[in-house]
Amino acid sequence: MPPGDASESARYGLNTQVQGNQVDGAAQLAFGTPSVDDGPLMWELAANAGTLDVNSRYAYLLWCRDFADTTVVARDVDRLAGFLTGYRRPQSPDTFFTWQVAVSDDYRRRGLARRMLDHVVGALRPQGVRFVEATVTPDNKASMRLFESFAEANGTNVVVDVLFSERELGSGHEPEMLHRIGPLD
Ligand SMILES: CC(C)(COP(=O)(O)OP(=O)(O)OC[C@H]1O[C@@H](n2cnc3c(N)ncnc32)[C@H](O)[C@@H]1OP(=O)(O)O)[C@@H](O)C(=O)NCCC(=O)NCCS
Repeated sequence: MPPGDASESARYGLNTQVQGNQVDGAAQLAFGTPSVDDGPLMWELAANAGTLDVNSRYAYLLWCRDFADTTVVARDVDRLAGFLTGYRRPQSPDTFFTWQVAVSDDYRRRGLARRMLDHVVGALRPQGVRFVEATVTPDNKASMRLFESFAEANGTNVVVDVLFSERELGSGHEPEMLHRIGPLD
């Protein structure tokens, strides 16, 4: 592999775990780790999601290169139905921080986001992950319910606190409320 090239594992998704996933009322979706080629599709889905802070296309490409192992994409036959990005916090590796989750309009309210979260966290549990964090803006009911639902299903707590306020985020941006879920058994 040439030095500095996108890693082969990221580009071709060598670590991809593809498994059948029946989302309510939808066809089987393939869940797996992203390849670099998924970066532009994730960027597009984020841009169309409506409520996300959209990062640069470059950021999604880099994400797929370097954080594929803690990211899941849900693929339908010829399109991306959803993705969830996250990472283990460098100073607290028992904590998985969910960075962005987006589901294409046509696939919403069928349990896809929950399944993607279960999928990523399930894969990380054997590596010692016991907490899940995410920030949610107070107006994002769907996102809030997603994390509450995950906590309920795991019989554990959610602690909510302000992570970043308008002071850090800039005027007009709602506060990002940290939801810390756990411990997971
Ligand atoms: C948030 C989002 C990812 C949820 O995806 P989804 O696949 O529709 O969610 P699910 O079907 O897995 O639902 C998870 C839970 O949230 C609930 N929910 C989903 N959408 C909801 C809505 N619009 N209002 C209220 N509750 C909602 C579901 O009923 C479910 O709760 P339950 O387990 O008690 O039944 C999706 O709405 C989205 O892409 N939004 C735009 C991007 C965004 O805001 N991302 C989050 C911030 S990073």
